[in-house]
Amino acid sequence: ALIDKGNHRHFMQKEIFEQPIVVAQTLRSYLQRLEGQIVLPIPEFDLSGIRRVTIVACGTSYYAGMVAKYWFEQFARVPVDIDVASEFRYRAPVMEPGGLMIVISQSGETADTLAALRHAKAEGQTIAAVVNVPTSTMAREADLLLPTHAGPEIGVASTKAFTCQLSVLAALAANLAKAKGRLSAEEERALVRHLAEAPAAINGALAYDEAIEAMAPLIAGARDVLYLGRGTDYPLALEGALKLKEISYIHAEGYAAGEMKHGPIALIDDAVPVIVIAPSGPLFEKTVSNMQEVQARGGKVVLISDYDGIEAAGEGCLATITMPKVHPLIAPIVYAVPVQLLAYHVAVAKGTDVDQPRNLAKSVTVE
Ligand code: G6P
Repeated sequence: ALIDKGNHRHFMQKEIFEQPIVVAQTLRSYLQRLEGQIVLPIPEFDLSGIRRVTIVACGTSYYAGMVAKYWFEQFARVPVDIDVASEFRYRAPVMEPGGLMIVISQSGETADTLAALRHAKAEGQTIAAVVNVPTSTMAREADLLLPTHAGPEIGVASTKAFTCQLSVLAALAANLAKAKGRLSAEEERALVRHLAEAPAAINGALAYDEAIEAMAPLIAGARDVLYLGRGTDYPLALEGALKLKEISYIHAEGYAAGEMKHGPIALIDDAVPVIVIAPSGPLFEKTVSNMQEVQARGGKVVLISDYDGIEAAGEGCLATITMPKVHPLIAPIVYAVPVQLLAYHVAVAKGTDVDQPRNLAKSVTVE
């Protein structure tokens, strides 16, 4: 197939904007429409005996795994270990019978992740692979192939593969919860309905593109940027910081909002923008109080929340980004979009090579 940028300036931008379609495409193969309702399909793979999940991945795929840990534990009550692949096999990990190892990889070829897969397989783990390239080595070596249908991703900084990985992992968490008898029929329908709302919500998030472009110059001059979030927004803070440093070369750090007082708060002054990812919900108040600690020290905050959250806490912020109101399950899928757009527009404002950032490779096949 011919791969071009279409009307977009960069592949990364094109791939960000493809997300409503590719997430819908991905979800379609994990959810089923039955008598007018969307439900989980009959599983071909029996998950009921899974006693423990180990997730291994690198880079952005690793952050998708971190979000999934919250979901697997919350919905299926199955304990989850997660490691970056380069650490996994060198720390003598304990793998017991009944363990499911999930590798997450856009390319399906990342050397460290592949080595972790082989190590776990040799230790008797069942291997599930969430990969975007169905012909890849990981896809071939896994027991259970869970493809993301993101299409080819050209931009070195991963975007659409990430939201598709999250979509597959959310569906897998729901399936595991069901297999464990942890979901009533009503809860299943509700979970699945929320998931199915993701593509439209991503569209809503993309509508904020121009506003994010307009605020990018406020960040482009910074030397350091901090990202804060709680719960599943904590891995998103890490992903936001990764995206920004990858393509704009600005030093950025993601932190659990509640951990900020144990270190990074020492860095706060009016030269360090702080991006706060805080959809309204059970953790909102807590994150806002961390945000106020930043503001009390002269810190400049960009708050990413929904209308209610911005109404409640937007005053006094350097800028705000308004997201559609979504169920907490899909919030990380939707909030990934402004985080990507912010990194993208800051990089464009700085004039860096967005699709081919220096020193980075799309697929890392050496250890
Ligand atoms: C490289 C890419 C990242 C990607 C990571 C993992 O560092 O630049 O965008 O997240 O590899 O790649 P994978 O193909 O395993 O998801």
